[in-house]
Amino acid sequence: MTAEPLANDRPLVIAHRGASHEEAEHTLRAYRKAFDHGADGVECDVRLTADHHLVCVHDSRIERTSNGSGRVSALELARLEEFDWASWKRLDRGVEDETPEADPERGHLLTLRRLLDTLVEKRQEVVTLIETKHPTRHGDDVEKTLVQVLRAFDLDRGDRPGLPHVRVMSFSARALTRVHRLSPGVPLVHLVADRPAKLVDGTLPADVGTVGLDIRLVRRKPKVVGRYREHGHGVFVWTVDDPADVDLCGELGVDAVITNRPGMAVDRLGVT
Ligand code: G3P
Ligand code: CA
Repeated sequence: MTAEPLANDRPLVIAHRGASHEEAEHTLRAYRKAFDHGADGVECDVRLTADHHLVCVHDSRIERTSNGSGRVSALELARLEEFDWASWKRLDRGVEDETPEADPERGHLLTLRRLLDTLVEKRQEVVTLIETKHPTRHGDDVEKTLVQVLRAFDLDRGDRPGLPHVRVMSFSARALTRVHRLSPGVPLVHLVADRPAKLVDGTLPADVGTVGLDIRLVRRKPKVVGRYREHGHGVFVWTVDDPADVDLCGELGVDAVITNRPGMAVDRLGVT
């Protein structure tokens, strides 16, 4: 197993899809706000478009988070970019609409390349968690494209000073194994929704250094954190939006909390 510790004296605060409690998820504005709130890093989901671009979108379909319709995997990037990816959140929150000119970043679809451009510009070791989602029609092209993109940014060789510290995450052991075969230097996180005992007993995919646990599992079985640690794994926990859960994660000494509310988590855990 490759160990990739994220040294810190309190759990790192990772903004889940950006500061997505306040802003439309996966927009550049949501990511910038996360850093304004003191987040140590960001999380994003990636999907492949019909013309093989990785875009930061959680759902397989686009209706919830844009004013368009269809599947990400069936639409080309240029078409997806025509839609507004923020108005749903404004309507959701009853906020007055802004003209696109007021903030050109606000409603744009974010590609993984654009997000990495922004993070690389910071010249800091921003923790960057990239979760692969799995459109079956693309076979292993998601992982292949992801590795190509990481290579293009020189982010496929582990943690280095002045560059984002990338982790590729997935619920799919098969996907992680594919990433590892394509690029053994990329640190991996296996997302675990349930059945922790089985994983602790040695069935994690090869070379996974860290597990990402559902907060509901941690609430139910807090000792699982220590068990993973005893086996040499780092522990991230998602999605930690309740202040009491942030406190629990702090007490348990997890490595990172992944939250839609990075400002709240930083307030509770303290600034690094
Ligand atoms: O950070 C892990 C978490 O994001 C997994 O669930 O559905 O929000 O992608 P989901
Ligand atoms: Ca995710």
